[in-house]
Formats: sequence, structure tokens, C-alpha cells
Amino acid sequence: MATNLRGHVFVCTNKREEGNSRGCCFEKGGMELMTKLKRGSREMGLDDIRVNKSGCLGRCEEGPSCVVYPEGIWYTIPDDEAGINLILNHLAGGGPANELIMGENK
Ligand code: FES
Repeated sequence: MATNLRGHVFVCTNKREEGNSRGCCFEKGGMELMTKLKRGSREMGLDDIRVNKSGCLGRCEEGPSCVVYPEGIWYTIPDDEAGINLILNHLAGGGPANELIMGENK
């Protein structure tokens, strides 16, 4: 594990009870998406990027949610390979995936 991290991604995997009006990222696939991002970053050799599970990030309605630091960029994570690759491209240093940034940060 690299000690000098270049970036850190927190992916919400919070689970609420069924029927909760806020919904949750878990039911939108947050856990699987976190795994895809983690696996993808490893496969790309991004040893200086860390991808972690997180509790609720407070952007439930816009989820599945993640935030990328140090930039503090919030994404609605798409459940398709092309979209995941856009986020991975950001993590690799290719710049933010503007089309995935949550509404008010655009
Ligand atoms: S449940 Fe994911 S941001 Fe709140």
C-alpha cells in the first residue's frame, strides 16, 4: 500500500430500510459500484489512489454517490462500464468526468 496517496474516493454503501423515503445508495448498487471502482483502479495500477466504502454522504437523492478527494468532486456513479471508466480516467489523472458530476457542482 502506498503511503503517499494522490487521491481518495469515498463511495456510499449506506443501506436504509425498505420504503424509506430517502432511499439509499445500497439499493442503487453502491456496494457493487464501489467494488468495480476499487478493482478497476487496482487493474490500472493506481496504487496511490484509495477507494473506500463510506456511510451516507448526504446526497442520497442523487446517488449512488461518491466523492473524490483532494478535488472534492461529487459523482453520481453510473452502472455501466463506460461510466465507470470515466471515473477511473479521472482517478488516473485525466481530469473530472464532467457529465457525471452531481447537479449543483456543475
Ligand atoms: S445513502 Fe448514499 S448519500 Fe445518503
